[in-house]
Amino acid sequence: MSKLVIRGGKPLCGTVSVQGSKNAVLPILAASILCTKGVTVIHNCPDLDDVTITVKILRFLGARVKRDGHTITVDARSKIKHRIPKRLMQKLRSSIIFMGAITARNHRAKISAPGGCKLGARPIDLHKDALRALACDITEKRGYIYVNGKNRRSSEITLRFPSVGATENILLTSCMTGGVTVLHNAACEPEIVDLANFLNAMGASITGAGTPDITVTGVPELHGTVYTVMPDRIVAITYLCCAAVTGGNIYLSNTVPDHLETALSYLAQCGCLVEAEDSRIHLSAPKRLTALAEIETSPYPGFPTDAQSLFLALLSTAKGTSIICERIFESRFKTADELSRMGADIKIKKDIATIYGKERLSGAQVSACDLRGGAAMVIAALAAEGTTEIDNVCYIDRGYEALEKNLQALGASVKRI
Ligand code: EPZ
Repeated sequence: MSKLVIRGGKPLCGTVSVQGSKNAVLPILAASILCTKGVTVIHNCPDLDDVTITVKILRFLGARVKRDGHTITVDARSKIKHRIPKRLMQKLRSSIIFMGAITARNHRAKISAPGGCKLGARPIDLHKDALRALACDITEKRGYIYVNGKNRRSSEITLRFPSVGATENILLTSCMTGGVTVLHNAACEPEIVDLANFLNAMGASITGAGTPDITVTGVPELHGTVYTVMPDRIVAITYLCCAAVTGGNIYLSNTVPDHLETALSYLAQCGCLVEAEDSRIHLSAPKRLTALAEIETSPYPGFPTDAQSLFLALLSTAKGTSIICERIFESRFKTADELSRMGADIKIKKDIATIYGKERLSGAQVSACDLRGGAAMVIAALAAEGTTEIDNVCYIDRGYEALEKNLQALGASVKRI
């Protein structure tokens, strides 16, 4: 089991290029099995454990997959299996997106509940209800979900909550279903737009992605394409927080500033100078950040729940008292306990964290509780006095490519042991 060892206190300076988006590439890879004419060539795929598992699922299903650096080529022209074994399903949350993709391709699917970071209850009722609304028959037996989509048809669906995954499953299931499917209260996250753009590049007809109302007109088949995955917006926020907490001065390249609007405005309110131009962001931080009165996580374009742990760490050393309300996932404050080991003063009451900023944190032995919680510990460690050892690094590796190499290039003292 590897650990990250970080000696804190150095301001991060320099340029970092942001990797391709994990949460965009995973549904895009699942969607690639819908292509029966030609192959799909997907550029800017980050080198992450979750991508490796998704490639394993594609190969299990019978697709021929070639991975060459950051480019993945999927040839799904021959027969694709309709089932995924539990051992693969349970390795990540986004395996649930194969439910829609396999149903669209094979008119039936056999999958189990997905895995993923433990952020509290992560039900899949919205995914199942959505497929039922498309006239798919769903039964469950011995831990497996059986989808019969032989009689599926287009429909008008209103999601009770704008779930990212359920929206993706609806796009996948409906894009080759005859007629017009209209989805209301859809998730508006940029990753939804990226999936819709990819499907449209393969010949699908999807309009309105990025708004709460999406219209999908079914087409008989999809063809090959060449596509470049969007930059990862949470990784971008992570590097900005690393610089902000250390009084640093960094430039991000390969990013989409519009995707980060809420987080950028909070970083500016903390006292950072933030400048965005085209695909670049410049952040210059003061010696000590100022607290934020109140942040609340909400679906896009609100403040992302995935950046909540990052700001928990960031605000631990800000001057004054900050409040963060977590409205999306019920157990996403576990990282507060780990930050406390480093001297942070955070009180949690239900879904509200009150952060009393301390001038300095001190190095300690801590754990990554989940992917973003792990990144939060890195942010805290970079700001702390002394050395911090972070274990459970496998969580961080699910979402960050070459993290220590990038941080070292920015002047941080980080090594993996
Ligand atoms: C996606 O998860 C992301 N994962 C998450 O990223 C992200 O935190 C989340 O969206 C919210 O932005 C991927 O894209 C692979 P949801 P997803 O369905 O699709 C409830 C990261 O760190 N819900 O929008 O699982 C659910 O419990 C991660 O990269 C239901 O009640 O998120 C939660 O409270 C972790 N029933 C809320 O909706 C359902 O059937 C949002 O979930 C589905 C969801």
